[in-house]
Amino acid sequence: MASYAVAKAYDLLLHPFLHNIRKKTAKIIIQLNPNSVIDICCGTGNQLQYLKNTDIKLTGVDLSPAMLEVAKHMDCYEQDARNMAFPNDSFDLAMIQLALHEKSFDDQKEIIAEAYRIIKNNGHLLIVDYEINEKTKSSSRYVINAIEFLAGKEHFKNFKEYHKNECTNKLISNNQFLLEKKVLIAGKSMALQIYRKQTTAPF
Ligand SMILES: C[S@@+](CC[C@H](N)C(=O)[O-])C[C@H]1O[C@@H](n2cnc3c(N)ncnc32)[C@H](O)[C@@H]1O
Repeated sequence: MASYAVAKAYDLLLHPFLHNIRKKTAKIIIQLNPNSVIDICCGTGNQLQYLKNTDIKLTGVDLSPAMLEVAKHMDCYEQDARNMAFPNDSFDLAMIQLALHEKSFDDQKEIIAEAYRIIKNNGHLLIVDYEINEKTKSSSRYVINAIEFLAGKEHFKNFKEYHKNECTNKLISNNQFLLEKKVLIAGKSMALQIYRKQTTAPF
């Protein structure tokens, strides 16, 4: 788990890579006009900062006390995304940004099931994560592979598994969430996907 120093450095180091992605994500969220948003695996809460000048009620959860220390001025809580302490149907929109790829498939499944539970009927799930394939710029592919390799054995294994499982394709069922929009970003190395919660069929 990250130390406070690493957590502090995280935003600074990643700002050049993530700033445009954060801006695009915030713009899309504002267009969807939610009253309440939760950032699941929010890290330092950096994405929520891009929404702070709106009327949206912002909440975050993360497991890392060090990351949350950076986010302490916001409503960000130490909670496990696989078992969150919010009632059913709590939020208009949940986002999961750059977090699924580093988890095992079982953990991803549990997080998506929890997101489904806490999102209101007809609410949105927004996922921003890697999607590396033949369309990805080769320079982006090399840099991202190197970063993920350096993040550790387990992390790299999950990153590779995530792609073997076709990213979110095998993870999210149409009975849970229907894909409304998908945009490839960051040199076609990431996908920003907007899903709508389905309420008619059980899964
Ligand atoms: C790569 S960081 C991404 C953080 C943030 N979403 C962003 O865009 O910068 C992944 C985050 O997931 C958190 N995390 C890992 N497992 C988690 C879990 N089971 N529940 C909540 N957070 C978790 C980590 O502590 C870390 O802050």
